[in-house]
Amino acid sequence: MAHIVAPSLLSADFAHLGEAVSMIDRSAAEWLHLDVMDGAFVPNISFGFPVIKAVRPLTKKILDVHLMIVKPDRFIPAFCEAGADRLTVHYEACTHLHRSIQAIKKEGMKAGVAINPHTPALLLEDVANDIDLVCLMSVNPGFGGQKFIPNTFRKLDALRELRQRLGANFLIEVDGGVSHANAKALIEGGADVLVAGNSVFSAGAPEKAIAELYAQ
Ligand code: DX5
Ligand code: ZN
Repeated sequence: MAHIVAPSLLSADFAHLGEAVSMIDRSAAEWLHLDVMDGAFVPNISFGFPVIKAVRPLTKKILDVHLMIVKPDRFIPAFCEAGADRLTVHYEACTHLHRSIQAIKKEGMKAGVAINPHTPALLLEDVANDIDLVCLMSVNPGFGGQKFIPNTFRKLDALRELRQRLGANFLIEVDGGVSHANAKALIEGGADVLVAGNSVFSAGAPEKAIAELYAQ
């Protein structure tokens, strides 16, 4: 499968958010990654419903919403209403993960589960056949522009093995520290979706940086 690039809006200039969304809309990117942080699950606060609602009418791209919040079940219908196409919750934030996944799918969204760098991929074994995506965190969540953690490659191997063994269909998304320096190796390692924030928005020509992530 050809890989997908999902630029993360977290690294955009928030004073000119509309322009950042337009840039992504014009670009080759198929998804737009939106990082929601609550200051409890992660040591940072980003944005929530009003921003997602404002972004929604500006693009037809798939809105890939990554929830870094505690007890996400409280807000699943509201994220659907705000315009999310795909909703990813953290393994570490869900006491009843199976229930959360079903609740996301009930709203008609694609369900993803994110795992922190310390969480073994094998812990997803009993939900692997229920989910549409695994978001492999390649940094500790909370901030853009962090350094990629190389152990991610081992986890990519483990996830691919798990998917094959169980005949599961989830996409593997790598999130954090993705750039032109590691994109090719990640794709070769089995990443289906590359999230890129800093490497896109700090580039002189962000649209070109997105195209280059596709060309790997
Ligand atoms: C980190 C977020 C990421 C972040 C990626 O907590 O989940 O999506 O925006 O940003 P970069 O590509 O700058 O590491
Ligand atoms: Zn993210």
